[in-house]
Amino acid sequence: MKVITTIQDMQNEIMKHKTLGESIGFVPTMGFLHEGHLTLISKAREENNIVVLSIFVNPLQFGPKEDYSTYPRDFDRDRALAEAEKVDYLFYPSVEEMYPHESSVKVVVQERTDVLCGKSRPGHFDGVATVITKLFHIVMPTRAYFGKKDAQQVAVIDGLISDFNFLIQLVPVDIVREEDGLAKSSRNVNLLPEERQQAPILFRSLQKAKKAIIDGERNPNKLVNMIKEAISSESDGEIDYVEILSYPQLKVLEKLDGSIIIAIAVKFSRVRLIDNIIFQID
Ligand code: PAF
Repeated sequence: MKVITTIQDMQNEIMKHKTLGESIGFVPTMGFLHEGHLTLISKAREENNIVVLSIFVNPLQFGPKEDYSTYPRDFDRDRALAEAEKVDYLFYPSVEEMYPHESSVKVVVQERTDVLCGKSRPGHFDGVATVITKLFHIVMPTRAYFGKKDAQQVAVIDGLISDFNFLIQLVPVDIVREEDGLAKSSRNVNLLPEERQQAPILFRSLQKAKKAIIDGERNPNKLVNMIKEAISSESDGEIDYVEILSYPQLKVLEKLDGSIIIAIAVKFSRVRLIDNIIFQID
């Protein structure tokens, strides 16, 4: 595995593979790799000749009061994990390499952002879309792999790829969970021990709502309240949102049918967790 820190070197390497007609699988991350990331890498490994993993904690997507400085980082551990997963290139640029000066152009996301995390994180998806646009131009992937845990991010990247005509196949990958149902996340290490015990209620509440829908409940308000009550009674977390929307359009539903997402965000003392389920109602 080669570790590459400059854009120029990364593009030179990629061009060699492109000339040979090889496919490039790309897994963009902010590091502190967990099983969720490793699943993305192994899927990319299965489906492509070359696998590129990027590790870059992107300052543009963090708000002024968010956890940019405390976001967990452990490059040596990540490098060992990437090597074990047979990644070909680990792209690890500095902030100065990615943003050498104040950008003259930024990507602004206009749709799919006024709901879920977008509502409470203004500018977040502009930062994601800007860095992903740059990374796509640097890595020039055939396929790009994203976890469905960040379902709104997947929806935004889907719009970016189609609106900006990137010749890239988006591959959304299922959420990887701990045995007790908690969705894996780099941020889980910031849960206090008692909060870690409580956190699986997020997934249990989603499952309860899904079951109610399967059993015939179609009133979105009732379902939202059912989830809120479950979370409030079984955790100290403060509910940020519980929303039921169409997916991937992320529109408020008048009537519950078609492909839907039930998504939640809950703030614990040092970390905010998100989770979701996406399924089809016939
Ligand atoms: O999901 C993430 O880790 C980040 O939002 C991403 C896609 C790597 C962009 O910085």
